[in-house]
Amino acid sequence: MTVGVCYFPEHWPRQRWERDVEQMAEAGLEYVRMAEFSWGRIEPERGEFDFEWLDEAIELIGDHGMEVILCTPTATPPKWLVDERPEILQEDPDGTVREFGSRRHYCFNSPAYREETERIVTRMAERYADNPHVAGWQTDNEYGCHETVRCYCADCSNAFSEWLADRHGDVDALNEAWGTTFWSQQYPDFEAVEPPGPTPAEHHPSRLLAYYRFASDSVVEYNRLQTEILREVNDDWLITHNFMGHFSTLDAYDVAGDLDLVSWDSYPTGFVQDRREAEATVEELRAGDPDQVGLNHDIYRGALEQPFWVMEQQPGDVNWPPHAPQPADGAMRLWAHHAVAHGGDAVLYFRWRRCRQGQEQYHAGLRKQDGSPDRGYADASTAAEELFDLGPVDAPVALLHSYENLWATNIQPHAPEFDYWTHAGTYYRALRRRGVQVDVVPPERDLDGYAAVVAPTLYLLDDALATRLEAYVEDGGQLLIGARSGEKDPYNKLPDALQPGPLAGLVGATVAQHESLPEQVPTRVGYGGDEYEYRTWAEWLDADDATVQGRHRSGPADGQAAVVDAERGRGRVTYCGVWPGRELADALVGDLLERAGVTTHAPLPDGVRIAERDGHVWVTNFTDAPVSVDVPGGAAWIVGHKRVGAYDVGVLEGTLGDVTVTRENSEP
Ligand code: GAL
Ligand code: ZN
Repeated sequence: MTVGVCYFPEHWPRQRWERDVEQMAEAGLEYVRMAEFSWGRIEPERGEFDFEWLDEAIELIGDHGMEVILCTPTATPPKWLVDERPEILQEDPDGTVREFGSRRHYCFNSPAYREETERIVTRMAERYADNPHVAGWQTDNEYGCHETVRCYCADCSNAFSEWLADRHGDVDALNEAWGTTFWSQQYPDFEAVEPPGPTPAEHHPSRLLAYYRFASDSVVEYNRLQTEILREVNDDWLITHNFMGHFSTLDAYDVAGDLDLVSWDSYPTGFVQDRREAEATVEELRAGDPDQVGLNHDIYRGALEQPFWVMEQQPGDVNWPPHAPQPADGAMRLWAHHAVAHGGDAVLYFRWRRCRQGQEQYHAGLRKQDGSPDRGYADASTAAEELFDLGPVDAPVALLHSYENLWATNIQPHAPEFDYWTHAGTYYRALRRRGVQVDVVPPERDLDGYAAVVAPTLYLLDDALATRLEAYVEDGGQLLIGARSGEKDPYNKLPDALQPGPLAGLVGATVAQHESLPEQVPTRVGYGGDEYEYRTWAEWLDADDATVQGRHRSGPADGQAAVVDAERGRGRVTYCGVWPGRELADALVGDLLERAGVTTHAPLPDGVRIAERDGHVWVTNFTDAPVSVDVPGGAAWIVGHKRVGAYDVGVLEGTLGDVTVTRENSEP
């Protein structure tokens, strides 16, 4: 487990490099990532290459005992290229061209850009083919950042038609699969199906879903173009891409299939302001929400079911969220430990020095622009000293996450508050409150080996998936399925059968009605002898082959079934037809884990989390108040001790079952 940094030697005079690199080595950093936006420097004019500066930087880093991750520079095609081949630029739905002047302005489907990509990637890869200091490559940078997965240009229109033709074969099959008789939307041929531009009313949901799938597939194909070149040049390189947090337009599982290593970029105090429904608390503004960050760690660990990297770790205050609070003292160290606890193998801080120029001047680095240490530097060096080698995370529980379900529910949320991430987050948080490690994986993944599975929303469903879930339960699996499952077929149409469609046999119930409700409508549901609140979404269930475990106690649904469960073979399935409030989610998840025999902790306070990895337990405290850790018979502490202070961490040898964590001055 190791620490590294992102470095831009091209931003600084050469005389500084040696000192920079020395200070990196002094801090115990082991990896340096470079060159992701360097095309303009590497190739100032077509065919005129200048690699000498990068050679020298790599050499310096290697001489100081560190390794380099290079990046392909394709996120920033330079001005001469854009002027020569303007057709590479992306377009908005209304045809507005996304011009040169920032980054990510290219179209994934542009044949011209694919040609240029092949050229620059081959050239760079060949340059460093035998360089002993280059450990691997990051392709591009954050595919899709700034809403750039979906483009509406002529190249995309052609590629979309071809993509549809490959899938449907004949346009009548498409018309049938989508149901285009609605509002006279029949297509005469595939060429007539264009990217969804501006329309008076909403678009056909099947067309939108197809476009979202196509756009994500386009990135997968574009990335593959790069990974194939890199592999061909040197098969020993580690090939990765840096994904984003709570990212909604790209199917990360699909891209990961072409990578050796999955990495992502974590900015905890930005995410709580930017990608979350609830207003951030003061503690969250200082250190982030461990479950929001943790869910992303677990997605990217789950993508290849192996340790991941944090390729960019927030180093201090950052420029892009609405506000730029200084993180709490120690937060930059806490985040590194938290990542490792979730299965991270390396944490690279973004970036070495605050930059004097360009768009990101208000973004900290580990050092200030004058070279002196900033707040993150000591944290990063402490983390580098403290981290140690570990085996992978062994998670007893899987949470099923699907980008297609995210897209489809976003297309017809049926309530402004129905957000796929937040709904899934309700279940994820309940699991993490119990200290349980969770693999976040797509529904197609092999589920044998998981004691319990939580599927917050299986919105789009086909028979094949239903059959696999049945087999999982019959073989002894414990399954909890959430609301809005089996609502649509894979083309985003209602199936003939009532919801949950192909899952009705397994669940033993169907949905008689559903409704969405704004906050001011009181919502009550009984479960296990208690009464709970739910939010936003409710289904009233007809249970013909299941036991009713919870009934509505409010509104016109009063008395109707809301939660049912059924034994099937050696396992059991629960269906929860409401978006549970936090207490109900705790109760449902607690019951699931208990019957699955999974070791848990009593529900932890907000912001305090435990995680077990390879015979060690991490207690991470994202709050202002200290907690104490009890271990009967005493503990072998690797980092810290029994009192874990504000924004601090403790690591001890042991397992989840050995540890009891309590807030100081409170009852266990
Ligand atoms: C990331 C990006 C970096 C930098 C950083 C700032 O999204 O990959 O290049 O912009 O954000 O926080
Ligand atoms: Zn395009």
